[in-house]
Amino acid sequence: MAYKGLISEDILKHADIVKVVGSYLNLVKQGKNYKAVCPFHDDTNPSLTISPEKQFFKCFVCGTGGNAFNFVQKFEHVSFPDAIRKVADIVGYHPEGLEAISKPVKVDEKKEALLKCLYDLNLYYQFAFNTPDGKEGVEYFDSRNLDASLRNKYKLGYAPKDGKATIDFLLKKGHSIVTIEQTGVMRMISNTNYRDMNEGRVTFPICDIDGNVIGFSARRIKNDDSAKYMNTPETYLFHKTNNLYNIHIAKDACKLKGYIYVCEGFMDVFALGKIGIDAAVAIMGTALTNEHIQILRSLNVEIRLCLDGDLPGQSAMMKIARVLAKNGIRFRVVDNQGSSRDPDEILNQDGKEALEEYLNKLVDHNDFALNYYLRSNPLKTNEEKKALIKEFLPVLLRINSQIELDTYLRKLEKITGFDAESIRDLLRRTRESVNAGEGISRELFQNFHPEREALQKLVTAERELLYQMSQNKAAVSFYEQKIGGFYDDIYRQIAMFMVEYAENHDDMDLGGLIVLVEESDLDNKDEIIEDLTSMAFETHPNKCDENLLNNLLETINGEKSRITDEDILENSLKGKSELEQARIIAEFRRRKMNK
Ligand code: UTP
Ligand code: MN
Repeated sequence: MAYKGLISEDILKHADIVKVVGSYLNLVKQGKNYKAVCPFHDDTNPSLTISPEKQFFKCFVCGTGGNAFNFVQKFEHVSFPDAIRKVADIVGYHPEGLEAISKPVKVDEKKEALLKCLYDLNLYYQFAFNTPDGKEGVEYFDSRNLDASLRNKYKLGYAPKDGKATIDFLLKKGHSIVTIEQTGVMRMISNTNYRDMNEGRVTFPICDIDGNVIGFSARRIKNDDSAKYMNTPETYLFHKTNNLYNIHIAKDACKLKGYIYVCEGFMDVFALGKIGIDAAVAIMGTALTNEHIQILRSLNVEIRLCLDGDLPGQSAMMKIARVLAKNGIRFRVVDNQGSSRDPDEILNQDGKEALEEYLNKLVDHNDFALNYYLRSNPLKTNEEKKALIKEFLPVLLRINSQIELDTYLRKLEKITGFDAESIRDLLRRTRESVNAGEGISRELFQNFHPEREALQKLVTAERELLYQMSQNKAAVSFYEQKIGGFYDDIYRQIAMFMVEYAENHDDMDLGGLIVLVEESDLDNKDEIIEDLTSMAFETHPNKCDENLLNNLLETINGEKSRITDEDILENSLKGKSELEQARIIAEFRRRKMNK
């Protein structure tokens, strides 16, 4: 190891970084450094700096940097030893012992045996199309528009119903029963009775990045109640969640295109392949794992998320998008445009152009998130809605164009029901505080209650009752019996704590309540505690008697029904013609008069 270190250091000393980077990129001299357009992010200005003095490169936008070896390693996506050899070639310096820096030659015998066995098995499956019961497999693939050439390309096959014969074939080929067992394809019933796990299903070999078969997924042919796809269990070679289906084909294709589509299933990868997009992989479900991220990152191309258009697909994509963004990975999202189909369905139902168009409707993370919330309406409480606004504040702060900002605000208004102007106001105050060097303060946001402004009367009454509850157990039982739940999210949460507190104590006590809240695992503890604390400093002149409670009840109920009526009205007007709207409004008024 020490020897290896010396040689690589020796090469590095002979490898001028300007020459190495210059063999890949156009360099422009600037002062004592060189500049280039950074290949590691979507760069237009030359933001990569190469320093002959330090013998380092660094991009001050995306942060990528290192020495000559690191550059080649990252640019060419090769291992470190490979990068050393390449650098030696570039600078034409080949010291003695260079060969010693080579790929580890240690053969993994177990791995080799398993790979051979899986290779033979897959050939067997492919040939099985020509057997009498293999017809069913051919018919199935034909029904999915996967003709012989596509079956060949993806090495699809059929596992004959006689699963014992399949295993016997492998034994005859010289694979040991232990090896066969370790591939994960065999079900052992007794020493003489064993079966192929995939029997009677069509087979999709899953390959590693070099194209070796390491496991299978096998689909049922008929719609029975068995699992749609059966996957090889975890084995020495196969870890389903580490693998991207079709990566061996996509890894080269994506270099040419500069992007890679990430889909859910096999059929989606085939659909893209059919229209000439081989730069596509499937995560075989909706979970993107850390291993997937590592592989995708190393490709250094734009990730194009293309999960199914249905709700599970879209919400999985929301999660994935967050993770990718957090990891600083360049990606865009295929906008489902409200359709719930997957790429395979789009191709089959609407044809090639429709799928091409679909795949080209790409949106960035923010637009995707807004569309998602607009279309699927997953935000129920005001708290969730406020959290969304909070999440978007940094995005809004970065927008320079008024028109773009207005579009965002209108969308946020639609999603949350909060007036666009109150969001704009929050944004203005946030900007001021950021400019003053205070950052986005929690306090600013906690005073953001647009929903309360619109519902002044209701919220004031709820707040008054809440205060009385904090002082008086009678008010708590009044709340339980007559109100049942506040309209305001925070007040409702606080009331729940008060009810719980009242059950276990003789008298109400704000200090005790705060302890109860502190011990809970709520996300918005701080906000609740802040509210409770300010309550402790208030004195309300009203005496908590039946009269006061009944008055509050009346206001609350009255305001609530007013809001719901208007809400219902507003909703029923959406998407209607003017004439229809007029008719609905007239009907609404008539009913209200009759109440
Ligand atoms: P889907 O249910 O969306 O299947 O699951 P699909 O790709 O559209 O397949 P068809 O058109 O119904 O045949 C997406 C992916 O999740 C994995 C598979 O990789 C599938 O392609 N999956 C699904 C399983 O591993 N097991 C299952 O039972 C179902
Ligand atoms: Mn699907």
